[in-house]
Amino acid sequence: MKIIMLGAPGAGKGTQAVKIAKEYSIPHVSTGDIFRANIKNGTELGKKAKSYMDKGQLVPDEVTIEMLLKRIEEDDCGGGYVLDGFPRTIAQAESLKKSLEAKKQKIDYAINIDVPDSAIVERMSGRRSCPKCGASYHVSFNPPKKEGTCDNCGESLIQRDDDKPETVEKRLEVYHEQTKPLVDYYDSEGILKTVDGTKTTDEVFKAIAEVLK
Ligand code: AP5
Repeated sequence: MKIIMLGAPGAGKGTQAVKIAKEYSIPHVSTGDIFRANIKNGTELGKKAKSYMDKGQLVPDEVTIEMLLKRIEEDDCGGGYVLDGFPRTIAQAESLKKSLEAKKQKIDYAINIDVPDSAIVERMSGRRSCPKCGASYHVSFNPPKKEGTCDNCGESLIQRDDDKPETVEKRLEVYHEQTKPLVDYYDSEGILKTVDGTKTTDEVFKAIAEVLK
């Protein structure tokens, strides 16, 4: 099963991708998490990505596409994967399609989590993330069992640098300009499934599980 998660920043792509990965035993591949791991490890890729991420801009396609296509070649992706945060531009979607077609493969579903912009800022300001496993929490809507600690791996949770209100606004602007066109793109490919992302995380997952059934 090869799945793409679509939706605005903060729509809940990461939250749902973790659940899907667990339910279907496939890897959760998040380009944002890969960039953040590189930033943490001080790599050249991390330094380059940080300069864009801190401004709420997209990391250039030539960096991101190569990185993602290499990641999905790894052994754990042989039985499928859930992509979170990729593709984010039409050029990324086209490159992915071309690369999969060359192997006689295709994406099965593009799941679009629909949340209005008005709900996004509240979600981002309360978000706490695990720097180790990528799990995402919210201080009110989805708190961890023990405050400040990841339920999955016990790591201390952090607030992301790009969750400041002014950066969130820029990320939303970039989403509408460059990423939202992918909703029409995957609709015309016949694999788009839109779910209402304003419900609780369990209800959203139930809707996604219905689609994947
Ligand atoms: P990335 O890490 O992908 O960030 P994003 O797409 O902006 O998405 P988020 O991780 O912010 O949100 P999400 O939809 O996963 O929501 P979450 O589940 O955490 O990318 C970061 C940056 O990296 C980009 O800005 C860009 O610079 C760069 N980048 C990454 N990929 C790239 C690419 N392909 N090309 C170029 N650049 C790239 O949920 C958010 C909050 O809401 C949490 O607190 C959560 O607990 C809460 N929540 C979730 N669901 C619900 C619900 N149903 N009800 C109430 N609260 C909820």
